[in-house]
Amino acid sequence: MSLSKDLYSILMALARKKIISANWKMHITASQVLPYLTVFLSEMTVMEAVEVILIPPFTSLPKASEIVQATSHTRTLPLRLGAQNISSHEKGAFTGEIAAMMLCDLKVDCVLIGHSERRQLFGENNKIIHEKMMRAHDHHLSPILCVGETWDERSLGKEKKILEQQLREALCNLSRDQIARTIIAYEPVWAIGTGQTASLDQAEEMHSFIRGMISECSDETTAQHIRIQYGGSVTPLNAKEMLSGPNIDGALVGGASLDPHSFAEIVKHASNFST
Ligand code: 13P
Repeated sequence: MSLSKDLYSILMALARKKIISANWKMHITASQVLPYLTVFLSEMTVMEAVEVILIPPFTSLPKASEIVQATSHTRTLPLRLGAQNISSHEKGAFTGEIAAMMLCDLKVDCVLIGHSERRQLFGENNKIIHEKMMRAHDHHLSPILCVGETWDERSLGKEKKILEQQLREALCNLSRDQIARTIIAYEPVWAIGTGQTASLDQAEEMHSFIRGMISECSDETTAQHIRIQYGGSVTPLNAKEMLSGPNIDGALVGGASLDPHSFAEIVKHASNFST
């Protein structure tokens, strides 16, 4: 007996474990990592239904890695480590850059690629982003590919066109397995750090559009498995509603992740939606 497409989508939405990521951006020094994680982990009980990704700045990665590994055999909360950026080059004379193998050496297993702050402030275009995607996959790092439109683009009705271009150019030439290992983060630029979260309807519409694009770039099974996080002014107050969307598989949290209590609260909200 074959399942109807709608029922299949509902079952897949239930099966996708929520991922909550903390993008600390340029905050939290190496010596602040232990106090932060001591508080955060003390608030976590059994939560195997949620995945948490910590994304510290580079200088705090070694300390975070040490703690994640030291606690990995005791805790039940799956804790992963991510980096905020990666060089598109393998190695060599690239002063100030960080290579994929340097991240792997620290047991980092995912990396943000194409964050709007990298696109807007550091001139990263879709071509560079694609190169970084390939580099990450070469080293079996899971990319968290960030996509999203500006307010001007949305007011001109171009939000889907922008997302389509960002997704096509980042994902072209990737194998089905590589696409399946990618996490997508929909982060409308106008919602980042502004306190103006997208509405649940706006986010759902864009997440469902992204899933449709993944189906085109890969296939329907991959599209149903891939996890799509929402990012942009997520707080403990709005997380519950935002995470209730069937196509919203988690959150990429900036400002509210800097306080271990509020980040823990967001993770707890996510655990209520997971199986
Ligand atoms: P805020 O949660 O501070 O809006 O930042 C979102 C973000 O950019 C996460 O990557």
